[in-house]
Amino acid sequence: MTDFIAGLPKVELHLHIEGSLEPELMFELAQRNQVAIPFDSTEAVRAAYDFHNLQSFLDIYYQGANVLIHEQDFFDLTWAYLLRCAQDNVIHTEIFFDPQTHTDRGIEFATVVNGICRALEQGRTELGISSQLIMCFLRHLDEEAAFHTLEMALPFKDKIVAVGLDSSEQGNPPQKFARVFARALEYGFLTVAHAGEEGTPQNIRDALSLLSISRVDHGVACAGDEALMDELAQNRMPLTVCPLSNTKLKVFERMEDHNIAMLLRRGLCVTINSDDPAYFGGYMTDNFSAVANALPLSEAELAQFTLNAIEASFVDATSKAEMTARVQAYLAAR
Ligand code: ADE
Ligand code: ZN
Repeated sequence: MTDFIAGLPKVELHLHIEGSLEPELMFELAQRNQVAIPFDSTEAVRAAYDFHNLQSFLDIYYQGANVLIHEQDFFDLTWAYLLRCAQDNVIHTEIFFDPQTHTDRGIEFATVVNGICRALEQGRTELGISSQLIMCFLRHLDEEAAFHTLEMALPFKDKIVAVGLDSSEQGNPPQKFARVFARALEYGFLTVAHAGEEGTPQNIRDALSLLSISRVDHGVACAGDEALMDELAQNRMPLTVCPLSNTKLKVFERMEDHNIAMLLRRGLCVTINSDDPAYFGGYMTDNFSAVANALPLSEAELAQFTLNAIEASFVDATSKAEMTARVQAYLAAR
């Protein structure tokens, strides 16, 4: 199974690029940019990654992002992630970035997007990895700030396929951003949102109805609502599930308790993703392996996670057919 997972073509749909900042690069950038960080070694950084819920992670995650200043920093961050993708046989990735984490520190929007996109372009030409970029609004900030961020994104519209919603789910329901998402849809962006990670099934329902989302990020709380699960299965509404994130942030105590296998077998379009791999202890192959080690899944079921991700991706039908053919060829050669 280890070899099967390693070689399986993978598609990632839920990755915060700031969450791929490994402690080694954090130290390098801190030194390069003369930014103080409250750790004296990479071991001390890793030791601090002991989370008990989403907020305890977010506090450390936003602090880590402070070392990102120049366009080259955003390039280096994204390129390091793409090299890990290549190792894990990730053939396509759709990555989130949090512009407000940077613009609120005085970093230009263009600095962030240009650095990320230069790496994505190089990933296409040198590694054969295709990609899309999704801009997230921080939901702990207000509606006005999200509107302002949306306007900043307009000159970069050709580089950003969708807008998303992340950060603290509790106390910041989808309703708060209904008008911003309506405007984003008018501008021609697709929409996604984190919902049902720590929050309720009602948050998933509200994200679907008020934000017109094309995918639910996380969404594992749907298991508390039978009718919602049926609806999600019937509509093939994708869930971008992040197994190692969920156990690290105590959404599930153990991987054996995770509901991803149950959701797959009920016909939901569930996918496996890494969320913030530098903080949660694993990239795509690690996430597939953690699931396969804890839950009884066949090779066909593991491949179905990739087929679901291809179905749920924001690329044209031709690209989806090409990616599907790569998975079928891999399965046929076994
Ligand atoms: N930002 C980065 N990772 C996140 C997560 N898992 N949930 C909400 N916001 C996030
Ligand atoms: Zn996330």
